[in-house]
Amino acid sequence: MNDYESDRTFRLFHDQYGYDWIEDPKEADLVLFNTCSIREKADQKAMSGIGELKKTKDLRPEMIIAVGGCMAQMQGDDIKHRFPYVDIVFGTHQWTKLPEMVEQAAQDGKIFHTQQVDIDFENWRNYSFLPFHDTETTHPVRENVTIQNGCNNFCTFCLVPFTRGREVSRPVADILDEIRKLADRGVREVNLLGQNVNAYGSDRRGEPQFVDLLDRVAEIDGIERIRFVTSHPMVMNIEMIDRLAANPKVCEHLHLPIQSGSNRVLDLMQRGYHIEKYRELITHFRKRMPNLALTTDIIVGFPGETEEDFQQTLDAVREFDFDESYSFIYSPRPNTKAAKWNDQFIPDAIAKDRLYRLKALQRQIKDQHSKKYLGQTVEVLVEKIENRAGEDIAIGKTRTFQTVNFPGNKQFLCNLKNVKITNTYMYSLDGTLEA
Ligand code: 5AD
Ligand code: SF4
Repeated sequence: MNDYESDRTFRLFHDQYGYDWIEDPKEADLVLFNTCSIREKADQKAMSGIGELKKTKDLRPEMIIAVGGCMAQMQGDDIKHRFPYVDIVFGTHQWTKLPEMVEQAAQDGKIFHTQQVDIDFENWRNYSFLPFHDTETTHPVRENVTIQNGCNNFCTFCLVPFTRGREVSRPVADILDEIRKLADRGVREVNLLGQNVNAYGSDRRGEPQFVDLLDRVAEIDGIERIRFVTSHPMVMNIEMIDRLAANPKVCEHLHLPIQSGSNRVLDLMQRGYHIEKYRELITHFRKRMPNLALTTDIIVGFPGETEEDFQQTLDAVREFDFDESYSFIYSPRPNTKAAKWNDQFIPDAIAKDRLYRLKALQRQIKDQHSKKYLGQTVEVLVEKIENRAGEDIAIGKTRTFQTVNFPGNKQFLCNLKNVKITNTYMYSLDGTLEA
């Protein structure tokens, strides 16, 4: 989501105000920090990035520094005081106001330095999604499109409901309009984004719900593939799975965070499901989509997690045979329930050891998965052509989101090709074009 917002904002400034992208922030007219706050490390990264620009700002006071997104939402006033040279602090609901704020900063800067802070989200219902810029001419083959913002779930570890606010679904017409324009510009695959994506529409009763929207997207000429992220197991159900499986453009690729394999921990996390429900969903998915690639998120070292709980997580990773798991050590976040359970916090050494064991198991599983592709023919959507040692190599993704490299040429770009896999690696597959 942050990538999407950064990308759309760059395009907005590029198309409407003539800004170009440059690599070195020290030479920029405008530096924008789009911050994340999901774990403490993300906060620290943003803080140190802002700190590094102090010297440059002293030398070039005309440079405008804007800090936005989740960390700014949570710690706006703190940032203002800690970094007095920052010009603009904006929250998660001010993206569309940014051009105005930048213009104001440029004008103020000519006279004296002021700081603008806007992190208000009282009117969260009026959340305005970043608009699509019709003047853009080129797009990659695969594009993200936000369909929903915010989350109502309040899992006890998670800051998202505090930073992004409550769930707001983007109007169907805006989504379809953007995707139609993307398709006209060569986009063949869309990845629909939302913090609780499969709850799309639940805040707009009587209007199309998640699976209805996906059916409408599938009708758009030129769109060959649809993905979506991130779904919640509590919101997923058998009917939804049947509808997803019946839509031929929906890829066999699901990211469904499990967070833990222990029902006791899932309850403490207030995830709203038990492992039995997760099992029922995945069993049904695999029945309807036999090639399903399943990925997940897992937290280790959640307050009170015992070795037995952790063993259940390892068991779940084996059982569900995840293609990938994104695993994290629990990080206490301000305002969240679990952050108050400090008498139950897991010592760092134990949490690190659990993370290490989990990652080792996942690597083994991933390795077996990659090997299974050997000799198979897969459909690849070609995203780019690279010249490697004098040979043109086409690079793209399978429907299951595996990267495939095979000899090809520029005509292959944006096309679907059948490729026979001849070699497998941990993170990619090699193949040759099937006649
Ligand atoms: N500590 C560790 N991991 C977290 N996540 C969310 N909040 C925290 C936290 N406080 C993880 C969850 C989520 C993913 C995006 O980040 O696994 O699914
Ligand atoms: Fe956070 Fe996801 Fe839980 Fe919402 S559902 S509170 S975004 S972990």
